[in-house]
Amino acid sequence: MKKLLVLISVVLFAATFMFAAEEVEVFSWWTGGGEEEGLNALIELFNEWYPDVEVINATVAGGAGTNAKAVLKTRMLGGNPPDSFQVHAGKELSDTYVITGLMEPLTGLLEEWGILDKFPEDILSICSYEGEVYSIPVNVHRGNVIFANNAILEEAGVEEIPLDWDGFFAAMDKIKEAGYIPLSLGDKNKWTATHLFEDILAATLGPDGYNGLWDGSVSFDDPKVVEAVEIFGRLMDYVNEDHAAGTWQDATLMVKDGKAAMNVMGDWAEGYLKTLGWTPGEEFSWSVVPGNDGIFMVVSDTFGMPKSAPNPENAEKWLKVMSSVEGQDIFNPIKGSIPARVDADKSLYDAYLTWSMDDFATNALLPSIAHGSAAPEGFITALHDAINAFVTDRNVDKCVDAIVEAADDNL
Ligand code: GAL
Repeated sequence: MKKLLVLISVVLFAATFMFAAEEVEVFSWWTGGGEEEGLNALIELFNEWYPDVEVINATVAGGAGTNAKAVLKTRMLGGNPPDSFQVHAGKELSDTYVITGLMEPLTGLLEEWGILDKFPEDILSICSYEGEVYSIPVNVHRGNVIFANNAILEEAGVEEIPLDWDGFFAAMDKIKEAGYIPLSLGDKNKWTATHLFEDILAATLGPDGYNGLWDGSVSFDDPKVVEAVEIFGRLMDYVNEDHAAGTWQDATLMVKDGKAAMNVMGDWAEGYLKTLGWTPGEEFSWSVVPGNDGIFMVVSDTFGMPKSAPNPENAEKWLKVMSSVEGQDIFNPIKGSIPARVDADKSLYDAYLTWSMDDFATNALLPSIAHGSAAPEGFITALHDAINAFVTDRNVDKCVDAIVEAADDNL
């Protein structure tokens, strides 16, 4: 009897392994507002390629990873990593996960798949550390874009979104007179205000000045930084009063619902507007933020593989799907981003994304602060606080001092 029980246990134990469900846990913050749709399309493709592997879609809601990043860090440091996760190229990847020794190098895989040379140098370099690639870009988002409701612009007599600040403020006055909110903002999660501020910073400093902030050649109390804070303050007079209650999606919706004329956001808002039924060039138009002509604020979503991923072989499969031309061409037209692959099929992209692709190829590419590429987490958190305090107290000197302190402490 005892022997029989032992035998049954052994058989059951073996069966657990033989028939254990194959899975891959993919972690991101793409839960809705156009983001989820793109991710689901990618998961569907994965299911076609690997029907025996189930994707565990582990998401933590909150734009720009407001909540997801903290959850991920706890899991990573606690030895409970997902198999693969969304991470921004740049400091967010290198400082938080690569230098701490938590990531697998992926250069070998890219070579094996013959696609190491299929990504733009500028993007792959911010996915790399000391000569090894540690994450694979699925897209390139553009951060410094204005999306506008065409009907409101027309009613207000604004023919084009002006590229200079004077023209832009004059256009916003017209929109105000026509009875609409010129600019929507939803800074319930602090990053959206920082996102707007970094575009203004790029405008006043220009590409060299902006890059100089990170190599130490430009100081954070430079007159151009002060000017950026001042312009940001002036803009606040044109945003919706309830801005502190809404998210980025709420701000995009204000444009869609005809309450606000314009919104400054990354082009995930383009993905969102499309999932809401709008067509780029018909109901909405776009432009760069004033002063940003020739500048492309880069936000690149990438996926990597933790060293102790529970299902490393399946993680590789996920990476293979998301890095393939097919995967990128399914995901990006929905997500509102351009493909990271240089050999993607450009004919699949709409008028807005074609514009973005052209600019990406010719503009100065700047790393976003709000989305983790330019600076380490400590600096970003302190900048969020400085900018959000400024939104309430409008004290320019205090804000600049706080930014200088953030840089002294964290850079
Ligand atoms: C960014 C991310 C985008 C989009 C956005 C809003 O940080 O790169 O893919 O998801 O946040 O959540």
